[in-house]
Amino acid sequence: MDLKPQRIVLFGATSAIAEACARRWAAEGARLCLVGRDAARLERIAADLRLRGATEVALEAQDLAASADFGDLLDRLWSRWDGIDLALLAQGSLIDQARAEREPDYAGRELAFNAGACLLLLLDLANRFAAQGEGCLAAIGSVAGDRGRAGNYLYGAAKAALATAMSGLEQRLAPRGVRVLAIKPGWVDTPMTADFAKGALWVGPDRVARDIVRAVRRGRSGVIYTPAFWRPIAWAVRALPGWLFRRLRF
Ligand SMILES: NC(=O)c1ccc[n+]([C@@H]2O[C@H](COP(=O)([O-])OP(=O)(O)OC[C@H]3O[C@@H](n4cnc5c(N)ncnc54)[C@H](OP(=O)(O)O)[C@@H]3O)[C@@H](O)[C@H]2O)c1
Repeated sequence: MDLKPQRIVLFGATSAIAEACARRWAAEGARLCLVGRDAARLERIAADLRLRGATEVALEAQDLAASADFGDLLDRLWSRWDGIDLALLAQGSLIDQARAEREPDYAGRELAFNAGACLLLLLDLANRFAAQGEGCLAAIGSVAGDRGRAGNYLYGAAKAALATAMSGLEQRLAPRGVRVLAIKPGWVDTPMTADFAKGALWVGPDRVARDIVRAVRRGRSGVIYTPAFWRPIAWAVRALPGWLFRRLRF
């Protein structure tokens, strides 16, 4: 199967991973709509994507944390090109675990954005893809959602919620001809992880984008780990017995 999506919406389009994907799709001549909260940055990214070959780049400045109702936005997106081939959710923030343990308000805001708002957006998108009867609904989760760890279990819990919803949506939408793709990156060198010390398992955003674009083109559904070596690592972490897991710090 060789599917080249032509009408693509990127949520959290200022994300380094989303931008790297958009560059690849722009080079294939796709029409792109960028959704994000920072209008000036969206404009700069759009200008670059036009130079790279995008047939059209549209912008929707919207704070994806601020609303539980995405109906108006999705109405506009669906009517712009009379349907969507691919929606990619890339928004997210790395929850400061220590701060969340001290400040319930902060924890609540972060969970509302990383879990609640993403799930509500997915639900509305899923209904529209189901009615359309084709397309691909993709979202970036994380290996952090595979097993909660002491240092980032709230971020992990939000990504686990996303993964569970994507699994259910895959089963719901497959009979309707819609593909659902859950993307689980490992450690990626982006602004989100700017303060982290980098090691051998780290990759740049374009490496992850390559895997995402390829999976979409091949018509994949289900879960992809990116880079692929994270699949056995995640499996091993999940398989660790509790007595050993409690002693480890990683
Ligand atoms: N980097 C990694 O190691 C890694 C690993 C696994 C999974 N991921 C996931 O990959 C996705 C993309 O992340 P990235 O690494 O490309 O990071 P990034 O460049 O920091 O992008 C994060 C995106 O989320 C948006 N965002 C953050 N907080 C927001 C808020 N409160 N309201 C609305 N939008 C907000 C940002 O918008 P602004 O530009 O306006 O801030 C940006 O578009 C995220 O879902 C992340 O959880 C990343």
